Amino acid sequence: MNSRLQYVELNDGRFIPGLGFGTYKPPEVPNSKTTEATKIAIEAGYRHIDCAYAYQVEEEVGLAVRSKIADGTVKREDIFCTSKVLCIQYENGKTIYDHVDLCAVWEAMEKCKDAGLAKSIGVSNFNRRQLEMILNKPGLKYKPVCNQVECHVYHNQRKLLDFCKSKNIVLVAYGALGTQRDKQWVDQSSPVLLDDPVLGALAKKHKRSPALIALRYQLQRGVVVLAQISYLAFSCFLCVYTYNGMDLR
Ligand SMILES: NC(=O)c1ccc[n+]([C@@H]2O[C@H](COP(=O)([O-])OP(=O)(O)OC[C@H]3O[C@@H](n4cnc5c(N)ncnc54)[C@H](OP(=O)(O)O)[C@@H]3O)[C@@H](O)[C@H]2O)c1
Repeated sequence: MNSRLQYVELNDGRFIPGLGFGTYKPPEVPNSKTTEATKIAIEAGYRHIDCAYAYQVEEEVGLAVRSKIADGTVKREDIFCTSKVLCIQYENGKTIYDHVDLCAVWEAMEKCKDAGLAKSIGVSNFNRRQLEMILNKPGLKYKPVCNQVECHVYHNQRKLLDFCKSKNIVLVAYGALGTQRDKQWVDQSSPVLLDDPVLGALAKKHKRSPALIALRYQLQRGVVVLAQISYLAFSCFLCVYTYNGMDLR
């Protein structure tokens, strides 16, 4: 294990690295870039890689992990790799709406864990009501270990975080740097998170970038955070791991 990294314990006794490498990319970026970027991420120290069937790059991520195992950088057991089941279908670019029984999906995921296909199982984009539905499900075998949701300084998910903590569910944050601002999803006139004056002032004070302050904020409140961050920035980020973060409360 990479001792430089901070790990968070999951409710099934396993550990997740506090910082994960996000692998979503816009369709115009070639898939080969994902292999390249994932290799760099592993070399830089990332041990948590966030994927999803929907990102359509799992093969490329697998190639990168394999190559980094082959060259001795990591062992398979060092890598915490997340995938996600897609409960949405698209046809000709349009979403096909359907009713999905989330409890039935959860039971199928429990079976995957029992079959050894997944080590830990969690959910994504669940609100409190949906989490309670799983937690109160008759015959529940495994609680979700995590809930991956949008979470950043402009949408800090305080209530959901408190609820997750009360149930020993780890909150995993995406969008922590303000997202890739894809025109499809983000109103381009909305404020740019990394230009925020408070983040800027803290960055200046601590001689770090606003991105590192935004990530550090999440780790300090017990949130696992995803980012697509460069090698240099990552090294700096590790340096601030031991920072006294009183400003970031
Ligand atoms: N479960 C879900 O529904 C869901 C949804 C969205 C994302 N995710 C996951 O979360 C991951 C993170 O995605 P995200 O869209 O939320 O991205 P994000 O990490 O909030 O932001 C990524 C953007 O931040 C900028 N950035 C990265 N490092 C920086 C640095 N050191 N300084 C300044 N800017 C920096 C990059 O901009 P430039 O490109 O301009 O460099 C990049 O486009 C995804 O890859 C995916 O794995 C999950």
